[in-house]
Amino acid sequence: MAKVGTPLPPYFNIDPDAALTDLDLPTGSQDFSDIAEACTRGRSDLASRGLNETGSKSLRLFSTWEITRYLIPVAQAHFRRVLKQNPDLPQGQSETEGGAKWFTLDEVLRLRAFFGAQGSKAKNYLSYRPAGQPAKMVAVANFKGGVGKTSTAAHLAMSAALDGYKVLVIDLDSQGSMTSIFGGQVEDEWQTAFPLLARHYGEYLRIENQRRLDRGDAPQPLDEALGAAMEMTARDVIQSTHWSNIDLIGAQLNLYWAEFQIPVWRMQARGWKLWDALTDRLEADGVLDEYDLVFIDTPPALGYLTINGLAAADILLVPLGASFLEFDSTGRFFDMLHSTFASIEEGENVAARALGRPEMAFEWDAVRAVITRYDGAQQGELSALMQAYLGKTLSPHRQDFTALIGQASEQVNGIYEADYRDFNRETYARGRETFDATYAAFKRLLLGVWRRGELAAQEAAE
Ligand SMILES: Nc1ncnc2c1ncn2[C@@H]1O[C@H](COP(=O)(O)OP(=O)(O)OP(=O)(O)O)[C@@H](O)[C@H]1O
Ligand SMILES: [Mg+2]
Repeated sequence: MAKVGTPLPPYFNIDPDAALTDLDLPTGSQDFSDIAEACTRGRSDLASRGLNETGSKSLRLFSTWEITRYLIPVAQAHFRRVLKQNPDLPQGQSETEGGAKWFTLDEVLRLRAFFGAQGSKAKNYLSYRPAGQPAKMVAVANFKGGVGKTSTAAHLAMSAALDGYKVLVIDLDSQGSMTSIFGGQVEDEWQTAFPLLARHYGEYLRIENQRRLDRGDAPQPLDEALGAAMEMTARDVIQSTHWSNIDLIGAQLNLYWAEFQIPVWRMQARGWKLWDALTDRLEADGVLDEYDLVFIDTPPALGYLTINGLAAADILLVPLGASFLEFDSTGRFFDMLHSTFASIEEGENVAARALGRPEMAFEWDAVRAVITRYDGAQQGELSALMQAYLGKTLSPHRQDFTALIGQASEQVNGIYEADYRDFNRETYARGRETFDATYAAFKRLLLGVWRRGELAAQEAAE
């Protein structure tokens, strides 16, 4: 018998009649629409809290403290002196007479350029990209959901922007989380990456039709949608964001349509290299010349959109938590990556060998698994084990679990968008530190990759 005063676990003694009174009527498919509508209303209410009067997101200002501590590491006194001596530089604005000065992101970027131009010691303030080296594309992927793909990609994009890089973010996830973070407005699939993929297919079909005509066969018709896509360029789907140096190709639910459409196109045109669609279109439209970094957020699935994102990437980051289930599932993700890309290579190379053409092989500059939401007190042993098995593939940097990001995301914000005055300064510093460290680990990878390219180009020129 249970001791008096010790309550039974909550799943005992549930009265079926009481349970029945809690229940509402059975749910039909129409009810989903009502639920979805309630969510949409709640969502716009939530989103509007971070929006200005015109309905677009705006970025907060940056204080002298934050700038001199995180962005342009000079002594505050020196910073103020330089501003005073150069009245043409942005002077910032203060909320009170003689109060702390605050600057817009654009002003910070101008100030950085100024400090960066002063002498060799200050060189470090300027973001490094070797001349002649292409923009780097970074995909963040794992077919396991909720591992921190979007958070990692969004924070890296923001860190890189604060560091002075020009960034393009591509949301390939029809959930559109990344798009929300950057305040993107996307009506339908025509404002996503979809038309770029469609145009790539359309271009292939045109060439193929010419061959058919030459052979005396009837051409395959380009339907109206494809015809419309043929007129579109990446510029038509790129939108600016409240970050002056971050642009976005957004996503929304209809983008999921691509997962059904792409295999149909591929059936109609076996030779279409669907995996090259995104890369080819971005290159053809000159987008890669306009940015330093392109971050691609992918859905938690290894579908056609993800394959396009992965094939486009130079650097692949695979976030995962230090838990048995996530480790296990990530292992299977790498296995799927192998079979997917090896089978594409195999298919292509059979033909290439027959025609005596060079064989193709996918190659990434760097692939790193990254531990996210790390809790050192609980997960030290498991992550050490993961490190032992994964070696260099697992980044030694672990992105700590931080309460700041949950709190920050309630306002649909990233850590870098949150005003530190809303937090205890130490909590803020620690939360920020872990994402700064995530960026530092990524930047090290990026600079190494760029440097390798630069040296290879020099060697080739000799
Ligand atoms: N370092 C962190 N500390 C605390 N919480 C985190 C951290 N990184 C991510 N999260 C939280 O974990 C949840 C999942 O993160 P996120 O949406 O980035 O994952 P995802 O892999 O993109 O998910 P999906 O597969 O649905 O696209 C979010 O609630 C996010 O706020
Ligand atoms: Mg996500």
